Formats: sequence, C-alpha cells, structure tokens
Amino acid sequence: MDMNLAGKTVIVTGGGSNIGRGISIAFAQEKANVVIADWDEVQGSKTAKEIIDNGGNAICVKTDVTNNDTVEAMVKEATEKFGQVDVLVNNVGWEVDQYFMEETRDKWEKIVNINFWGVINCTRAVLDQMVARKSGVIVNIGSDAGRMGEFREAVYAGCKGGVIALTKALAREVGKTGIRLNTVCPGMTVPDNMDTVGEKSLWAGPMGEAFMDPAMQAKAAKGYPLRKLGKAQDLANAVLFMASDRSGHVTGQTLSVSGGYTMM
Ligand SMILES: NC(=O)c1ccc[n+]([C@@H]2O[C@H](COP(=O)([O-])OP(=O)(O)OC[C@H]3O[C@@H](n4cnc5c(N)ncnc54)[C@H](O)[C@@H]3O)[C@@H](O)[C@H]2O)c1
Repeated sequence: MDMNLAGKTVIVTGGGSNIGRGISIAFAQEKANVVIADWDEVQGSKTAKEIIDNGGNAICVKTDVTNNDTVEAMVKEATEKFGQVDVLVNNVGWEVDQYFMEETRDKWEKIVNINFWGVINCTRAVLDQMVARKSGVIVNIGSDAGRMGEFREAVYAGCKGGVIALTKALAREVGKTGIRLNTVCPGMTVPDNMDTVGEKSLWAGPMGEAFMDPAMQAKAAKGYPLRKLGKAQDLANAVLFMASDRSGHVTGQTLSVSGGYTMM
C-alpha cells in the first residue's frame, strides 16, 4: 500500500535509538526525508548513516527538546534543508522506574521537562508553518502508562496522560486547518540489541542488559494478552499510518500498540 510519504519531510525527535530509530528507518524506506532530532549526536548520526547507506535521505540535528532555542534552530535547519516540515513525531521520552515517595524533586522535574515540555516545545515550533500552509501531521508517542497508570511510573504516567490530552485539545483547535494530531502508545518495547540504543537511552545500562535475556523477556511477556513484547517496527507501522493520508479522517485519537496491554 502506497503511504504517500515519498518526498515528505519528517522530524523524529529521539530518532537515534530503539523506537525512534525504527520510526526513522521506516519513514526513510517510504522515501521521506528524515530529520533525526536527538541530543545524542553519536547515536543519531549512526542511525542517519545507516539510512543513507541503504539509499535513504536523513540528517541528524543535535537537539535538546527541553531547550526551546535548540528546538527552534532544529526546525529552521530542517526547513532550510528540505523546504518544509510535513510531519513531526514527538518520540522523545525518558523514565527510570521508582516509587513516587522515593523519587526526588529533581527527577520529577527532569521527567516533566523531557516528557511534557519537550512535546510542547517541538509542537509549537512546527505549528506556524503548518497552520500557514494548512497542512501537516503530528504523531505523539505516549505510553500505556498514560492511559491506565502504572506503578513506579507516577510522574511519567502523568506526563504521558498529559500528552494524550494535549493531543486531543490541539486536534480540536487546529482541525479546521486540516492539521491532524494523534497519539500512539507503546507497551514494553525492547530493543533488538544494545547496538540499536544510544548511551542516553532509557535502555542503556543494567535494565537494557537484563532485557536482552530471552528468559526475562518471556517472563515480562506473560503480562500481555498476545504473550509477546513490542518491537520498534510495531510502533513504526502505526506511526506511518497516522502520518500518512491513509489516516486522513483520523485526529485526536489514542492508539495502543502494546499486544493488548490496555483495551480502551
Ligand atoms: N520502550 C518502551 O518499552 C516504551 C514503553 C512505553 C512508552 N515508550 C515511549 O516511547 C518513546 C521511545 O522510547 P525508547 O524505548 O525508544 O527510548 P530510548 O531511550 O531508547 O530513546 C529515546 C531517544 O531520545 C533521546 N532523548 C532523550 N532525551 C532527549 C532530549 N531532551 N532531547 C533530545 N533527545 C532526547 C535519547 O538520546 C534517545 O536517543 C518514549 O517516548 C517512551 O516514553 C517506550
């Protein structure tokens, strides 16, 4: 099925690692121009090179989504290089599981900055040109934690719930211009291997190493109706659909791609 994404320009925040990497590669395979906006320039450039080596078109622009100056500079660079931004995928997210009462205020602020302010900054930075053109699509990566709550992820879940509500509210505001916004929610989505995640990834370190063990994955998969964990490609398939004209009558929606973990 032709997704009509060829020649479109797509910004994927956090596009170097795991899910973002899978989304970036999937857009490149659809012949879109991919802008990987990641603060980990090493991993972002590695993914961009992988795309180019396979005949695709990609650049990595070092960006901190919590810093609005770098976000605006990234959107400017993407627009100058490719003419316009057609699609924004707000994929950046970060969390380390811990009980709410054991977490520090510094950690809460980091979680809110990355998971909520990052989405606000990037969304605001692309909307002027999208509204002026009366076209554009934004796909936000939420989490099933933001739909149902998840223990040891209280503030993160709150932010992801906020992303879902922000998506709906903005979809109502800008719908008359033809701009669409939707949220895609992963459940547990493990990297293919540690080579596909960057050193700033939430999978870097002991948690990632632990989940490379098939026995650990099988144990976690028992919590999912489909009895398997997600892969980046599962999320990428849904994001491509939400970004393409094939979902032209879909806006303000929340789609879980999580093996049935939530059913809402
Ligand atoms: N992997 C899962 O199990 C899972 C489950 C539910 C939701 N999610 C969500 O999916 C998204 C992707 O998850 P993932 O597993 O691929 O994460 P990941 O940590 O592997 O990748 C995130 C990428 O974002 C980049 N990044 C982090 N903070 C940044 C910042 N301030 N500015 C720019 N780049 C930044 C990192 O360098 C990394 O490349 C996140 O929004 C996450 O919350 C993931």
